[in-house]
Amino acid sequence: MNIIDGKALSLEIKETIRQRIAGLTAEGKRKPCLAMILVGSNPASRSYLRGKGNAAAFTGMDSRLVELPETAGNAELLQEIARLNADDGVDGILVQLPLPSHIDENLVLDAILPSKDVDGFHPINVAGLWMGRPCFVPCTPQGIIHMIESTGQPIEGKRAVVVGRSKIVGRPVSKLLLDRNATVTTAHSRTADLGAVTRDADILVVATGHAGLITADMVKPGAIVIDVGINRTADGRLTGDVDFDSVSQVAGWISPVPGGVGPMTIAYLIKNTLRAYELSAEGR
Ligand code: GUN
Repeated sequence: MNIIDGKALSLEIKETIRQRIAGLTAEGKRKPCLAMILVGSNPASRSYLRGKGNAAAFTGMDSRLVELPETAGNAELLQEIARLNADDGVDGILVQLPLPSHIDENLVLDAILPSKDVDGFHPINVAGLWMGRPCFVPCTPQGIIHMIESTGQPIEGKRAVVVGRSKIVGRPVSKLLLDRNATVTTAHSRTADLGAVTRDADILVVATGHAGLITADMVKPGAIVIDVGINRTADGRLTGDVDFDSVSQVAGWISPVPGGVGPMTIAYLIKNTLRAYELSAEGR
């Protein structure tokens, strides 16, 4: 069994970006800038944003954190987005999810300029993904594909099973696997006999938010297993949707939690932001 080291892979990506930005700075150009909006003080959200800000700093990218109180309404958030949309010094805009329940998430995501939507959550970018047009692709799915490709195993012709159908991970990663000519099954909480479906998978991506859902008996020997889950145990440890100890006995490759998908999501956020900068510099 091989471990897919998301931390090491993310470092390679960030190092390449660091050199690109050093080159821009040497030419006297402005640095790319990522703006992040946090509404309220969800500790997990705050910790993710700290990670994103640290990654930006590592690469030499500028970042800004805009903090709004838990009580902020749609109007305040939309005003902030309009300000960042109009700011030529801002290349990427990210609104950390989940938002408080009184905020209309669709209204907010629709307000971000598609050309600054580095999360790839705007309907224009979502449509671009599904229609095969140039667009910003969500970060976690891109990171997952990179991790699968890092095994050196072809995706084409393989049976891929994605457990989870979220807008952020399950659906877009299913589409990216389909684009690479895998035969894709999207399973979910209502799938009958989940184990029978997952046992067929050469590539198994699990994004459900249920700790330890996938056990060794549900995995095909030699499979590539990507664990997208981030769950907190009663004693405060992070754990995935895959029972690592048992599944690592059967899988060919497995990604750990922490140190797997999480760092890759952040690396691709930085990569998308550099792309937004380059597209705006090219006047597109
Ligand atoms: N919350 C959980 N995942 C994500 C993500 O990829 N982007 C944003 N903005 N919020 C999230």
